[in-house]
Amino acid sequence: MKTITSINQLRGELAAARAEGKTVGLVPTMGALHQGHASLVRRSVSENDVTVVSIFLNPTQFNDKSDLERYPRTLEADCALLEQCGAQIAFAPSVAEVYPEPDTRQFSYPPTDAVMEGARRPGHFNGVCQVVSKLFSYVEPDRAYFGEKDFQQIAVIRRMVDDFGFKLQIVPCPVVREESGLAMSSRNTLLTPEEHRAAAHIYHVLEWSLSFAKDHTVDETQQFVVDCINAHPQLEVEYYSIVDADSLADVHAWDEAAAIVGCITVYCGTKPIRLIDHIHY
Ligand code: PAF
Repeated sequence: MKTITSINQLRGELAAARAEGKTVGLVPTMGALHQGHASLVRRSVSENDVTVVSIFLNPTQFNDKSDLERYPRTLEADCALLEQCGAQIAFAPSVAEVYPEPDTRQFSYPPTDAVMEGARRPGHFNGVCQVVSKLFSYVEPDRAYFGEKDFQQIAVIRRMVDDFGFKLQIVPCPVVREESGLAMSSRNTLLTPEEHRAAAHIYHVLEWSLSFAKDHTVDETQQFVVDCINAHPQLEVEYYSIVDADSLADVHAWDEAAAIVGCITVYCGTKPIRLIDHIHY
């Protein structure tokens, strides 16, 4: 595996691969890789001739600078994991390489980027679109792989891909969970063992809500989830939204023909750590 930090070198490597007719898969990451990322990389390796994994802690998507400061940085371990997964290129540029000048572009895809995370983290999806559009233009991948854990992020990126006319396929990959049910996340390493156990409660409640929803309304189900999670002393729900899986608009009644998803954000512990998850009804 090659580790590349320059955009020009990356472009050169990929031009040579494409000249040989090779396909390219991109897995964008912010590092602190875990088995969830590994599953995306393995999928890309199985579907493309060349897999590029970007490792770039993108400052423009952090509206909370303390979140950026404490985000785990584990480049050496990340590269070792990528080698094991069979990636060909780790692309780990500096902030100055990606943003030689401040990126002033504004992306706006309401309602998709305006609800839930968009409403609570102003500028977050704008930063995601800035960096992902840059990565797409450097790599020009045939396929780009994203974890479904960030359910809303995929919906926003799809809108951006349509807007820019990027010729690539977005491949959403299922959430990978720890044995306890907790969705894998780089932020999990910031939890104490006790908080870790508490955080597992989030997905258990989401699962219970599937049977609860069978004989209760959307509003009652929403309240059930919030109450059950808030009953745990280490957890506090920021929001639980039950939405249409495509538009992300709020849903007010169950509809068997519609794809409906419940998206949650929970604060865990005293620091506190912000965790997200979702479930399909
Ligand atoms: O999901 C992430 O890790 C990030 O938002 C992404 C897509 C790598 C952009 O920085």
